[in-house]
Amino acid sequence: MSEIALAVIGGTGVYRLAALEDVQSREVQTRFGAPSSPIRTGRLLGQRIAFLARHGEGHSVPPHRINYRANLAALKEIGARRVLALNTVGGITERFGPRVLACPDQLIDYTWGRISTLCEDPGEPVLHVDFGEPYTQLLRHKLLAAARVTGAVVVDGGCYGATQGPRLETKAEIARMRRDGCDLVGMTGMPEAGLARELGLDYVCLAIVANWAAGCGDGEEITMAEVLANVDSASTGLPELVAELARG
Ligand code: HPA
Repeated sequence: MSEIALAVIGGTGVYRLAALEDVQSREVQTRFGAPSSPIRTGRLLGQRIAFLARHGEGHSVPPHRINYRANLAALKEIGARRVLALNTVGGITERFGPRVLACPDQLIDYTWGRISTLCEDPGEPVLHVDFGEPYTQLLRHKLLAAARVTGAVVVDGGCYGATQGPRLETKAEIARMRRDGCDLVGMTGMPEAGLARELGLDYVCLAIVANWAAGCGDGEEITMAEVLANVDSASTGLPELVAELARG
């Protein structure tokens, strides 16, 4: 079987890649347990891709209950070395309104109580991985280059703030995050990025802005219907972008 060129982790609103062909399903067990969903492998516009639904294919796993270690270990187990994380987010600062695609270059972790490292059990080696640049620089550049080829508009940079969820944030929490320097807010960016680094996987985030974060933009109440509709409409060029990144 040929090599996996790219693994894609889909977030809220992205539960499958409809354009994936010759799909095979793999139920992978890892030393950390089972991933959120079967891994679907197949060809996307000619490129060999693996896809995993982070919240499960029926969105049954909340952000704080996701087995991030199992998800990444399962992708590594089937031979993936590069991971494109699709993260549905709220936009905080001006450049990140609904339906924008962004490739953040920094993050701040506000999550708590999640298993955030491989160094959990006695006897595991203690790792102090460098995390100054939380996303793999080369893969970020490749994603931005792929966007130029396919014509997708992707904002280069921004700081992703990872919150605990599953509730959305208060206006005061978002105001604090803005003061901290966050541009985007989502619930699943961590510990995923840190674990990817510990596992030696190249990892990049493509954030899909679904709504203005609390108290930002028009200040309207955030509904799941709005979130899903915006993710849908922002995802139109996704198959071409993913395939081009896989090719590069
Ligand atoms: N906050 C946190 N996570 C999110 C949001 C939000 O406003 N929108 C989509 N995911």
